[in-house]
Formats: sequence, structure tokens, C-alpha cells
Amino acid sequence: MMEQISDYLFRYKNHNFTKRTTSAEHIDSLQSFEIRDSDIFLVTYPKSGTIWAQNIIISVLERDSGLQAYPCNWKHMPWIEHTVNEEDISLRPSPRLFTSHLRPALMPPGLKNKRAKIIYVMRNPKDNAVSYYHFNCDFAAWETPKSFEDFLEKYLVGNVAGSSWFDHIREWHSERDQYNILFLTYEEMVLDLKAAIIKICEFLGKSISEAMIDQIVEKTTFKNMKNDPKANYQFLPKDLFTGQFMRKGKIGDWKNNFTVAQSERFDQILQERLGDMGLKFIWDTELPPQP
Ligand code: PPS
Repeated sequence: MMEQISDYLFRYKNHNFTKRTTSAEHIDSLQSFEIRDSDIFLVTYPKSGTIWAQNIIISVLERDSGLQAYPCNWKHMPWIEHTVNEEDISLRPSPRLFTSHLRPALMPPGLKNKRAKIIYVMRNPKDNAVSYYHFNCDFAAWETPKSFEDFLEKYLVGNVAGSSWFDHIREWHSERDQYNILFLTYEEMVLDLKAAIIKICEFLGKSISEAMIDQIVEKTTFKNMKNDPKANYQFLPKDLFTGQFMRKGKIGDWKNNFTVAQSERFDQILQERLGDMGLKFIWDTELPPQP
């Protein structure tokens, strides 16, 4: 049953959605969305490096014959959960590229056949929460947080658009065997962009010359993406978004926002919620100790 939870969000199938961008009917329709073998999905919890990975995937594939040109990455790799797309995106020619912030149970069931490819990007949750806080401050479709502290409380219980980061991570990781899925982290992309791009190429079955990979690295650095009108999301209408998608692009900005007490409490909740999963997070730009 659908439940209105604020002026901005509704809850449906155990998930918080943005009123302005989707509807319960549309979410239901995804259960009969037919998957093709050649489909490529990018899945993330919001603010985990979505538009960065989008730009890399599009850059890797754009030399494919048959891949249409689109004016911007948002149109090239649309979110399947949005109703704001101007066309029926299911009718696009292959290979179709899609983005989603949804949890596994809400995705088209045909993805479980392991043929279509999914790239899942995760970011350390303290930086994720800070990035999400700033985005909430500038995004007119959501309530403006009273303070970082207030937002953090909501984030920790999943009372934000996209629901709980902890549930998203647990569900996608624990159901990974049902999908043809590549897991990447935002932090590995920051620390070695070239290696991350090579992983993406290998997963997508694209053999690309070293020179071309270097070009994609150059094109997708923070500095260059920030100035790329196709990729920087400054094309969103100003009545919807007044900030910068390309805000800081760093590992460790959480240290400028969290108090020591907030950080310790976060660590404790992370341990309680995901401690059994053996996930490793990179919290700053220093590489973790080698085993
Ligand atoms: S969204 O709204 O969910 O699509 O946002 P998302 O793209 O997932 O996250 C936005 C954050 O990703 C950072 N970003 C990058 N970092 C480094 N290099 C590149 N090229 C890059 N592109 C996007 C962006 O700056 C946001 O993080 P913060 O910490 O807010 O700067």
C-alpha cells in the first residue's frame, strides 16, 4: 500500500520515493519490464558516484556501432524508476543503458537471469551521507534539512529518499549470486581511475586500446567532468536543483562534517548493521594496510 510520508516523499513496497519523479504505478510496471541480454544497468545508492560511473560507461561504449547519440548523460542512461523520461525507454535500440537507485526486489525480475550486466558502485557511508546532505539542501524535490545533525539522524534510519543505505548495500551484496554484477567502490575510482576503467571494460567485454583508456581517464577526471555540459548535470532546471552535482569529489570530506561523537556512533551502527558482511571501507585517501 502507498503511504504519503511528507510533502515530498511517498513510501511504497518498503521504499521511499520522490513524489516529483515517480509513481507507485510506474514502480509496479517495472515488474513486467522486459530485459534484453545486451542491457547494461548501473545501480547505486544515491550520491555514491552514479554520474561518474555513467560517464565512464558511456565513454567506453560510445564507439559501438548502433549506439545512439544523446544530448546529455541523463538522457543517454536514464533512471528506470523515473516517470519524467520523455519517451518509452523500454523501446530503445540495443544496447540499452539504464541507471537505477532501486533495491533488488524492485528491479525488473528478468535481471536475475544473469545475462544483462549490472555495475554496482558503493561509497563509504560517511562521505555518502555528507554528499547526500548537501544534495538535499539544494534539491527542490526534497525537504531542506534543518542541519547536518538532523539529516544524519534521518539517514541512519533510512528516512530519506531511496530509504536506507544499509539495506541497499546488504540486499545487493547478499543477492549478488542471482545477477551478473560487478561491484566497484567510489574510493577505488578515486585512488586508481585507470584500473577502475579497465575493470569496467573487461566486465563489459570491450577491448579498448591503452591510448583510448587514457583518453577516458582524462575525460572523466573530476576537473574535466565538471566542465563537461553533457556530464556535469548543470543542465537540470534551476527550479529543481540549485547546487553542484560535481561538488568536491573527494574521499574523507566526512571529517569536515562529523563530530567525533557522530563518527563513533556511525561506526557502531555500521558494525551492528553490516558487521557480519566483511565489507572493507576506505575512509581517507591513504591506502588500507596490505595483508
Ligand atoms: S546522484 O544524485 O545519486 O546521481 O549523485 P552521484 O553521482 O551518485 O554522486 C555525486 C557525487 O559524486 C562525485 N563525483 C565525482 N567524484 C570524483 N570524480 C568524478 N569525476 C566525479 N563525478 C562525480 C560528486 O562530486 C558527488 O560527491 P561530493 O562528495 O558531493 O562532491
